[in-house]
Amino acid sequence: MALEIKKTSDGSTTIYNSDLNENYHSSFGAVSESMHVFIKNGLQHINKLQINILEIGFGTGLNAILTYKATRDSNTKVNYTALEFYPLDLKLISNLNFVDFIQPSQNEIFTKMHECEWNKEVLIHSDFTLHKIMTNFNQFQFKSFYDLVYFDAFAPDIQPEMWSETNFKKIYNSLNPSGILVTYSAKGLVKQNLRSAGFTVTRLVGAPGKRHMLRAEKI
Ligand SMILES: C[S@@+](CC[C@H](N)C(=O)[O-])C[C@H]1O[C@@H](n2cnc3c(N)ncnc32)[C@H](O)[C@@H]1O
Repeated sequence: MALEIKKTSDGSTTIYNSDLNENYHSSFGAVSESMHVFIKNGLQHINKLQINILEIGFGTGLNAILTYKATRDSNTKVNYTALEFYPLDLKLISNLNFVDFIQPSQNEIFTKMHECEWNKEVLIHSDFTLHKIMTNFNQFQFKSFYDLVYFDAFAPDIQPEMWSETNFKKIYNSLNPSGILVTYSAKGLVKQNLRSAGFTVTRLVGAPGKRHMLRAEKI
């Protein structure tokens, strides 16, 4: 894979995959996008003391560290499961500048999130477990139940199979009642596939530079 680090408009870095001609995050701001889509419109919408989160596409670990940062000073216990088929090289990760957007002491946690073993639930900190699963999401069979899904695959026109009704149905079936899925894409076909899978879909204001995003609820 041909990968290079790029700066986005809010000063945070992302990774550009030149084989796919696709960034890991919005060029208008990696941290801004992650905070808006996943933290503000996802995590902060769940009112539970223990939250089981599933992320589709662990990638740089940005959503995981921002989730840790957002819950650190609360009583919330987080069990974070992340699927990833193409884990990134640790050397590349070490050149990202997310450390500038978290507390210096949280950099150690970020490193731990990347260095910890795959396919095993690891206690990252009291009240935060991480289970990174190296797998192809399209073939993955869920055995657990989740409250919140960060759907952060590459764009639907790059990887349409990831955004299929079949995949959304698999997620729907593994959500707890009132569970939600959030994603940065508000494409018509994504909305349609989410609705066909059983979700109630709401279009929300998008992250900087994007008009809309989606929140899908299991009602
Ligand atoms: C848009 S990037 C976002 C990554 C991550 N959330 C982040 O903040 O860096 C999409 C991620 O999905 C992963 N991915 C692509 N195809 C996959 C598949 N079939 N199963 C699981 N993960 C996949 C990619 O390797 C990449 O890390």
